[in-house]
Amino acid sequence: MLASAQKIIIDTDPGQDDGVAILLALASPELDVIGITTVAGNVPLDLTTKNARIICELANRSDIKIFSGCDKPLKKPLVTAENVHGKTGLDGIELPEPTMPLQPQHAVDFIIETFRNAPEKTITLCTLGPMTNIAQALMKAPDIATRIQKIISMGGGFFEGGNITPSAEFNMFVDPDAAKVVFDAGIDLTVVPLDVTHKALTNAQWIQQLRAFKTSVGEAVASWTDFFERYDKEKYGSAGAPLHDPCVMGYLIRPDLFTGKHINVEIETESPLTAGATVADWWKVTGRTQNAYFLNTIDRDGFFDLLTERLGRYQG
Ligand code: BDR
Ligand code: CA
Repeated sequence: MLASAQKIIIDTDPGQDDGVAILLALASPELDVIGITTVAGNVPLDLTTKNARIICELANRSDIKIFSGCDKPLKKPLVTAENVHGKTGLDGIELPEPTMPLQPQHAVDFIIETFRNAPEKTITLCTLGPMTNIAQALMKAPDIATRIQKIISMGGGFFEGGNITPSAEFNMFVDPDAAKVVFDAGIDLTVVPLDVTHKALTNAQWIQQLRAFKTSVGEAVASWTDFFERYDKEKYGSAGAPLHDPCVMGYLIRPDLFTGKHINVEIETESPLTAGATVADWWKVTGRTQNAYFLNTIDRDGFFDLLTERLGRYQG
């Protein structure tokens, strides 16, 4: 790890693409993963927590501290996505039952304690799932808002619309009330929406490259991709599937591969038709205060080169 490495907490609901994001982070010397917090999302909490442990063991990093968090959204009943990720959330390849320990502390308390104890604005939060843990932490300890360096979140969509309803992306749809708390908290927030991730499409050649590594990470990521691609290819009629969550790590490591705009984004929490929509004032027509850096482009090939090179660092 580099002396200048960016300290991050990864809040996640693995999920195959969360898995790739965690593997990318753990292979990148620019990032120092000081904890992983899990939340209910793609699958229920017991499975997202188990999956986080499986992924860290796959990376040979059983030293990573994993904390289990909220098992349901703030107000709504939990919606999961087994139709995309399979029953386990990590379908595609059988991986060993994890044996590494789970930390006894609740994820929300870990987040609060960590930001209170660290020097101000030295740790970045990466959210790869519904924002329930972060909202709970901000509600329980509003003082941490000014201590968080940045939040980088996969979620939302504007020109691309939604992926679970016509207007809402999955992470925002599952817990729009939590998202609203986070977007309203005045924290430096970068949003990695579907507008970006729908351009980060896998393809057959990439899967071949991964298999050619002949490593357990290469095989796992190839098999996960084979699994979740089938759903997305049918849905979008594309040749590959969007790798959503790894774009968050890609942005942290190589921000030059992305562009965006500082705008106002509000979260719809009321309407049954559009709940979870990220109402992004892209053309600045409302005069509302800017609260997010909303990304909209990615250098797809540059991102995949980075990802492939980093995943290729795993041995064995
Ligand atoms: C997001 O939802 C989940 O299915 C993925 O892991 C990603 O975080 C994409 O909408
Ligand atoms: Ca996710």
